[in-house]
Amino acid sequence: MVNESRFHCYFGPGEAPRVVRAPGRVNLIGEHTDYNDGFVLPIAIDRQMRACVRPRADRLVRVRSIGADGEGRADLDAPVEPGEPRWANYVLGVIEGLRRAGAPLRGADLLLDSTIPTGGGLSSSAALTVATALAMRLAGGEGRGPWPEGMALARLCQHAEHAFAGTPCGIMDPSIVLLARAGAAMLLDCRTGEPRHVPLADPGVVVLVCDTQVRHELNDGGYAARRAQCESAAAKLGVAALRDAGARQVEACGSLTDVERRRARHVVGEIARTVEAAAALQRGDYAAFGRLMDASHASLRDDYEVSCGELDAIVEAAAGREGVYGARMTGGGFGGCAIILARRDAADAVADAVASHYQAAYGRRCPIFATRPAAGASVVG
Ligand code: GLA
Repeated sequence: MVNESRFHCYFGPGEAPRVVRAPGRVNLIGEHTDYNDGFVLPIAIDRQMRACVRPRADRLVRVRSIGADGEGRADLDAPVEPGEPRWANYVLGVIEGLRRAGAPLRGADLLLDSTIPTGGGLSSSAALTVATALAMRLAGGEGRGPWPEGMALARLCQHAEHAFAGTPCGIMDPSIVLLARAGAAMLLDCRTGEPRHVPLADPGVVVLVCDTQVRHELNDGGYAARRAQCESAAAKLGVAALRDAGARQVEACGSLTDVERRRARHVVGEIARTVEAAAALQRGDYAAFGRLMDASHASLRDDYEVSCGELDAIVEAAAGREGVYGARMTGGGFGGCAIILARRDAADAVADAVASHYQAAYGRRCPIFATRPAAGASVVG
């Protein structure tokens, strides 16, 4: 992990750096609903991005990473452009967003390190953008100017990914990374930006995160294609977004193609499931919550077509096992991670059974870790 002496190795001796952290996330339910103005229900996890930051006397920002080669650079007095190394573009995109927002930036050196697997669908990129924003704020001197906060900052981070990494991601990831509370999931209304924290602090329950190690990129076409299909379905249904359509309306609309109908069916059903799941969580009804997770997975697999054999295998291996409430893929799909909601006292046995099933089916490991809802991004030193 990043610390003072490693920072000095990368950027030379001097004042001790400050440190911020930004967590990864898993979405418990509400998949592919954020860009349809719907609801999502994610938690932050205890894997995180850390950034050490030290202000500079000039207007230069330099960023390096312990896990990746190269150095990103930005001059704060000129428009910042994306370039090489590509990983640094997330950082540069945030700096450009803050510059345009008129935030009082100072030059800084940043060193990054992360325990979030990249490309695993755990929002390593949102953790990076949010950590950058917090680090630049620390370097700029807190409270001395118009710093975007809350959902405005989440939108700035989302925009940085769109503009500098070519990723058409939704608002869910930077929102939960910024606004999460320990011991709670967050029901986010992606239309109004209103978050509601729903307690998930029961020590008898854990979320198991199972990494297929199948890597996906949101900018490889599948994700953008789903967004476009949703938009054209909404237009044919005569609604601003699929959030406004009803299940019967989707089945009755004669002008939808088969694909559009199935995409819309998923989104409309998933939004209803997410609201229902938040209510189930609120009353501690994990069995009901788990059934909604199972239904979400089936819908993502069959109607939205964003699952894959590896994700399905994990969900099938977990289904019906003693102590398992429910299981589903999480995040954009096409690989990445599946999650299992399980009783804590059964979690080890469930993880062992799923891992050996996966090993037998695919001949490789499926790393599994247990997590409980962590706090959103913060300054740690
Ligand atoms: C990715 C995006 C999110 C969301 C999910 C699907 O993780 O970054 O905004 O759209 O896919 O729910």
